[in-house]
Amino acid sequence: MLSENMENALNKQIRIEAESSQIYLAMASWAEAQGLEGISGFMYAQSDEERQHMLKFFKYINERGGHSLVSELSKPASKFGSIKEMFGTLLKHEVYVSQTINELVHISLEEKDYATHNFLQWYVAEQIEEEAQARTILDKINLIGEAKSGLYMFDKDIKSLNVETSVSPTSNN
Ligand code: FEO
Repeated sequence: MLSENMENALNKQIRIEAESSQIYLAMASWAEAQGLEGISGFMYAQSDEERQHMLKFFKYINERGGHSLVSELSKPASKFGSIKEMFGTLLKHEVYVSQTINELVHISLEEKDYATHNFLQWYVAEQIEEEAQARTILDKINLIGEAKSGLYMFDKDIKSLNVETSVSPTSNN
């Protein structure tokens, strides 16, 4: 059984994961409107992954005798100055999500809730992967610069990343 404190903290995370899904959906739309098919495909996949992250918390809370809540979500930004800026925003957001996961781990230890502590380890590993992926992409963007030809190549390139994410454990949950 979850403590009330743990349940509330996990419900807050449901909102964060749902908002992440909305943020990446808005990014997918902006990239698609720019004709950047590869980047938008990547962002659609990221958005789906975040929904899976959200659902995993959702099912866990109910499984442990709690009550998962659907909350109101903040409206994400719909425009970005550049692709580099957009991926910079993505990295910052993932660093923030990692902090919120760490905070949940901290609470689970305080509550001596080892089941939740164990459950959260999947997210700890996932955040390492997500941050690393965002950093790799930003490094690539910095390397090619924002010239149109470079961006065109990058948009093609990122499609191979989509294949990797679609077979990662994240999407199988
Ligand atoms: Fe669910 Fe990208 O953090």
